Amino acid sequence: MEKREQLYEGKAKKVYATDDPRYVIVSYKDDATAFNGLKKGTIAGKGVINNRVTNYLMAMLEKKGIPTHFVQELNDRETLVKKVQIVPLEVIVRNISAGHFASRYGVEEGIVFENPTIEFSYKCDALDDPLLNEYHALALKLATREEIDIIKALSFQINEELKAFFKAVNVDLVDFKLEFGKTADGEIVLADEISPDTCRFWDSITHEKLDKDRFRRDLGGVEDAYSEMMKRILG
Ligand code: TMP
Repeated sequence: MEKREQLYEGKAKKVYATDDPRYVIVSYKDDATAFNGLKKGTIAGKGVINNRVTNYLMAMLEKKGIPTHFVQELNDRETLVKKVQIVPLEVIVRNISAGHFASRYGVEEGIVFENPTIEFSYKCDALDDPLLNEYHALALKLATREEIDIIKALSFQINEELKAFFKAVNVDLVDFKLEFGKTADGEIVLADEISPDTCRFWDSITHEKLDKDRFRRDLGGVEDAYSEMMKRILG
């Protein structure tokens, strides 16, 4: 497949056309942002780690029957994926209180939930990704009832698979954000990435943070945390 013109540049990735309209190439950058771009920086080697980690996890999920956009890793930073129309919803699944759950509801971090929670944000940088519920998503025509039901079912299934996977490498999956896309034939598939940028990972024993919170909160050791997660995931 031949790489063609750049179609889009986001905060952490670029997307290129290919000579086949069914596929695009994503290219992972080392750029890091937080708080909707207010905080900017670089995490050396992040693009390579997030590319390889995302692909490993998407291939694992495919084997478990979850449809994804993943096609083939092309090199350290670039991956061939199915071209999809991104559903403008950020889906957040939580197993343990942290981040905005803790601040929004005034509770400490680290409360283990009996059941996972799910929430949606409207993927819109200009509005700062506002939280919304399913009725709002339907009113705004961001997705259909059927699509939302599929997205919810897939998200909880993905949570179970990821939780079990990370438990085996001594990591508690605290929470994570997913994005879904619609293929040309209308299938809803997992898209975007699953990486230390988009998940909270805590060491099961020490509870050390091994994710982007080290960057968001200026905790230091950002690169080491990303490398450690790649080592645990890829073996
Ligand atoms: P939150 O606690 O800030 O809502 O974040 C929940 C999870 O979603 C956390 O693992 C980080 C991830 N996330 C993103 O991937 N992108 C975002 O823009 C935000 C706000 C969170």
